Amino acid sequence: MMRRQFFLLPLMINALMACLAMALTNITTDQHALLAFKSQLKLDPSHILSKNWSVSFPTGKWIGVTCSPRHQRVSALDVSGMRLSGNLPSQLGNLSFLASLNLSSNSFHGQLPKELAQLHRLRYLDFRLNGLTGDIPFWLGLLVELRFLNLRNNSFTGTIPSSITNMSKLQVLDLSNNPLQGNIPEAVGSLFNFYP
Ligand SMILES: *[C@@H]1O[C@H](CO)[C@@H](O)[C@H](O)[C@H]1NC(C)=O
Ligand SMILES: *[C@@H]1O[C@H](CO)[C@@H](O)[C@H](O)[C@H]1NC(C)=O
Ligand SMILES: *[C@@H]1O[C@H](CO)[C@@H](O)[C@H](O)[C@H]1NC(C)=O
Ligand SMILES: *[C@@H]1O[C@H](CO)[C@@H](O)[C@H](O)[C@H]1NC(C)=O
Ligand SMILES: *[C@@H]1O[C@H](CO)[C@@H](O)[C@H](O)[C@H]1NC(C)=O
Ligand SMILES: *[C@@H]1O[C@H](CO)[C@@H](O)[C@H](O)[C@H]1NC(C)=O
Repeated sequence: MMRRQFFLLPLMINALMACLAMALTNITTDQHALLAFKSQLKLDPSHILSKNWSVSFPTGKWIGVTCSPRHQRVSALDVSGMRLSGNLPSQLGNLSFLASLNLSSNSFHGQLPKELAQLHRLRYLDFRLNGLTGDIPFWLGLLVELRFLNLRNNSFTGTIPSSITNMSKLQVLDLSNNPLQGNIPEAVGSLFNFYP
């Protein structure tokens, strides 16, 4: 009995912390994350975000931003094809209700911030046609809700992490046109649609 309680205690503390974090974050948290994203941009040639993402307007009305009516939190971010350039800030990991993230067809570069691993509701991740570098991180396997993962045409190096096989709901995985090395994890073959 004692042993069991000792085992459960850390789990209960974890659950409590998660509840607290939920209670302490709101749309303002999301707004800060998006402003950090905007401030990290090196290029915004059409001034789309610099003009449109203004704190004078509700975050849910910003271009490319969708809020879920139920939670009043950012559920989708789509800034595809806006010719943006810059690094991805760690604050993106604070968009805890994000289900879809589309940064495709821009010039984002640098490595994926490890904080993205916190986006446990993410279903669609589309980073194709950018200049992202570094490894395809092991923590991607933590995003177990992912249905769609497209990293095509970037500059990711290294090997495909085995953790990818933990994303059991994945239907589309496209890693083509990256200078990757090594073997493809065996279980990837059972995925619905795979473009190595
Ligand atoms: C979000 O929470 C902070 C405190 O954590 C509070 O000051 C702020 O007014 C809240 N914003 C909204 C829009 O509820
Ligand atoms: C931002 O873009 C949205 C969608 O195009 C538009 O409805 C809104 O009026 C724009 N806001 C500003 C401040 O330009
Ligand atoms: C958001 O993310 C940053 C960096 O990852 C962190 O320092 C900050 O405390 C986070 N939380 C909120 C509520 O903005
Ligand atoms: C991302 O945006 C591009 C261009 O608008 C679109 O073709 C693609 O389907 C989007 N990806 C997802 C996962 O919705
Ligand atoms: C994608 O990458 C391939 C191989 O590097 C290249 O031939 C192709 O032009 C790229 N596509 C685009 C649209 O940039
Ligand atoms: C897959 O997930 C399980 C359970 O969370 C974990 O124990 C295991 O290490 C993961 N495997 C990989 C390859 O990430």
